[in-house]
Amino acid sequence: MGIEVVVEGLTKSFGRQNVWQDVSLTLPAGEISVMLGPSGTGKTVFLKSIIGLLKPEKGRVLVNGVDMVNSPEKDIMETRKLFGLMFQDGALFGSMSLFDNIAFPLREHTRKKESEIRRIVMERIDVVGLLGAEGKLPGEISGGMRKRAGLARALVLDPQIILCDEPDSGLDPVRTAYLSQLLIDLNAQIDATMLIVTHNLDIAATVPDNMGMLFCRNLVTFGPREVLLTSDTPVVSQFLAGRREGPIGMSEEKDAATLAAERTTGNGFGALTGPRTVVPQLEPSPGLPVRQAALRRRERVMSMMGRLPEAARTAILDSHAPTVGGGHP
Ligand SMILES: Nc1ncnc2c1ncn2[C@@H]1O[C@H](COP(=O)(O)OP(=O)(O)OP(=O)(O)O)[C@@H](O)[C@H]1O
Ligand SMILES: [Mg+2]
Repeated sequence: MGIEVVVEGLTKSFGRQNVWQDVSLTLPAGEISVMLGPSGTGKTVFLKSIIGLLKPEKGRVLVNGVDMVNSPEKDIMETRKLFGLMFQDGALFGSMSLFDNIAFPLREHTRKKESEIRRIVMERIDVVGLLGAEGKLPGEISGGMRKRAGLARALVLDPQIILCDEPDSGLDPVRTAYLSQLLIDLNAQIDATMLIVTHNLDIAATVPDNMGMLFCRNLVTFGPREVLLTSDTPVVSQFLAGRREGPIGMSEEKDAATLAAERTTGNGFGALTGPRTVVPQLEPSPGLPVRQAALRRRERVMSMMGRLPEAARTAILDSHAPTVGGGHP
């Protein structure tokens, strides 16, 4: 089962520019979490801080008892082996075949024999649906295939924690739907803790157990998916509805005058927030095991019911009600 990641009071700046401050959250072991947020709010910086590639000036990130911010570099390096990271841009080596790209972490970080490497790489290539393309160069395949190759590479070291930075960027809606299912299936098979950064509202609505959002240098909220999906916090509901009206502007934050004008012209976000329905979370494909994380989450969420808003409680209880026919649609 995956490993819990505890983030406490994390603050990161570049020079005088503060990216975010006092971010605290826990990624529950084996569960899937999604981080939303407008461009430039520091989502990629957050992922890089979790694996210790960037150093926040305050706070801690605890993984298996190691603080990825302040521990000695050798402990951080060792703990980093528990992670699989899928970069925003795929980050494949252009002159290497997909096979060699995916084999790279194994050749770099292990002393496995070539025959063993071949077995692992082909298995991961199969999982992400790229069998037959292993000899191709990154420049010879589509963007969607490159994404999946990046995911396969993130998986070769059997990670306990998987971080995906915008796995859907550049994908068409159908490929995105396949990717969503792939992420759920992967979680059912390996029970790894997963954090996915995305702008995609379909992924956000159907994949994660938990969701958070970064905005204006703060973590607006983080918790069970139903809390965000039913939230009437203006910035959250604007983002989830993909509307122009609301506190998020082109340069991230609108000024007070623009917001006031929107309210008086009746374009106010308040007027547009109707009741939102929470679509069901995806189930693993037929034949795959039940997601252990989903069972654990059920217990966990029930124990925090008293602290959740009414709308979220209703959505959670609805999701526990037996569905007609049951099982996978
Ligand atoms: N190495 C760096 N040095 C200086 N500033 C940086 C560095 N990396 C990121 N930043 C700044 O930190 C802020 C957050 O960047 P980040 O890439 O995390 O945004 P993001 O939320 O991932 O955006 P997007 O959704 O467009 O990928 C930006 O203002 C960016 O310019
Ligand atoms: Mg980014």
